[in-house]
Amino acid sequence: MPFEESKDISGAKELLLEKTLEFYKMNGRKPLALVRSFGCQQNVSDGEKLKALLDKIGFGFTEEPEEALLIIYNTCAVRENAEDRVFGNIGQLKKLKEKRPELIIGICGCMAQQEHIAQKVKESYRYVDLVFGTFAYNDLYQMLWKVMGQHERVFNQTDKYSDINEELTQLRDDKVKAFVPIMYGCNNFCTYCIVPYVRGRERSRKPENVIAEVKKLVSEGYKEIMLLGQNVNSYSYGFTSLLREINRIEGDFRVRFMSSHPKDAGRDLIDTILECDKVCKHLHLPVQAGSDEILKAMNRRYTVEKYMEIIDYARAKAPDFSFTTDIIVGFPGETYEQFCRTKELIKRVKYDNIYSFVYSRRSGTPAAKLPDDISDKQKGLWLRELILEQREVTSEWLGRFVGRELRVLVSGDGRKGEGWLTGKSGEDIIVEFKGGRELIGQFVNVRIVKAMNWALEGTVL
Ligand code: 5AD
Ligand code: SF4
Repeated sequence: MPFEESKDISGAKELLLEKTLEFYKMNGRKPLALVRSFGCQQNVSDGEKLKALLDKIGFGFTEEPEEALLIIYNTCAVRENAEDRVFGNIGQLKKLKEKRPELIIGICGCMAQQEHIAQKVKESYRYVDLVFGTFAYNDLYQMLWKVMGQHERVFNQTDKYSDINEELTQLRDDKVKAFVPIMYGCNNFCTYCIVPYVRGRERSRKPENVIAEVKKLVSEGYKEIMLLGQNVNSYSYGFTSLLREINRIEGDFRVRFMSSHPKDAGRDLIDTILECDKVCKHLHLPVQAGSDEILKAMNRRYTVEKYMEIIDYARAKAPDFSFTTDIIVGFPGETYEQFCRTKELIKRVKYDNIYSFVYSRRSGTPAAKLPDDISDKQKGLWLRELILEQREVTSEWLGRFVGRELRVLVSGDGRKGEGWLTGKSGEDIIVEFKGGRELIGQFVNVRIVKAMNWALEGTVL
């Protein structure tokens, strides 16, 4: 029976496999999929799961839209410009679809979880075949079969999630650094943030599953394990004991994690980081703002002084301890005076890096209802001011490493030109140095000779 006539979708995986096999017989190669992930590491990790699912039904992969049979954008919803970029990218695919009607176009991830986005795509981007949110992965084969075999458009914004599916594995592009999600979702409801609405409530993976995955990755030669969660230190089986257990795994590798919420980051977290040799001496601790009034309006549930307690505790034990942060500029109602307190905080903490953003209104969040009378232009100027302040603070603070030796995981060609390599130290600082490309993927010891405002420069020992 031709696949097109089949209405039975229960055996979707087998039907899709037959279809890709048929493609193989006709073309002498696998059909190709382009999966592009935007946004945070969690999203990139989801994209890797998507690739594993596609690999199992006979797809190969490409980065070229022209040769893809299936294009899926795995999207981010955290700021408006992320969404605009996706719509721009999809717009560009229209011509391709006209030329090759068999091309399948899909959008998934955080942005695609939102009903109003699904509606917009349904009405205004009629050449998009598939729109599914963050909870629909278990249904991928059924959805894909509906599109490929039955030529229907599919919209799946289900908000029902079952237990974590440990059968969903990742197909990782990177052979050196691996993302390992330990928990999903978020319970914090910061008033500006869309994440709790698109990724649901917190749920944690069992420690034994995480440990088994890390062990496997280390045995395959991975050198850096990045544990992921919207708020890793509310991991429900105990985050610090998980870190300590991972630290006991044998092998030459290091461990990082993202992100930590300051309200849950206690002294035990700092102690654990300092006591575990494989855990990087670095904490990404998003502060978001430097005034108590704005922190309250953001529902962050800590004050500047509370935040500083954890910084001071770490620095009392390890004066060089590396912190990075996220900052939002121009939250509704923020005054210039309050913004200046964020600049003050940067000077007080001395961050090694800051990810700063202009506030973006996200419909459905509590802050979206607040009056916001500062223009985007003004907020852009504040952002510039903040970045200039940060560069000054960071370049001076990075100077503490000059003359010292850092262990660097080499990741690729350097930005400084021919013959230069780049990598990151355990403190998550970019280090540039001269060396042969055979070092890529290895740990090297580098003597630091210079601090710039974005990186360190050194020589391999
Ligand atoms: N506008 C601007 N930045 C935001 N972030 C989250 N939501 C918004 C928003 N509505 C930033 C926060 C967060 C990072 C991942 O993105 O700083 O820590
Ligand atoms: Fe973007 Fe947040 Fe979704 Fe990550 S979880 S992709 S940052 S919206």
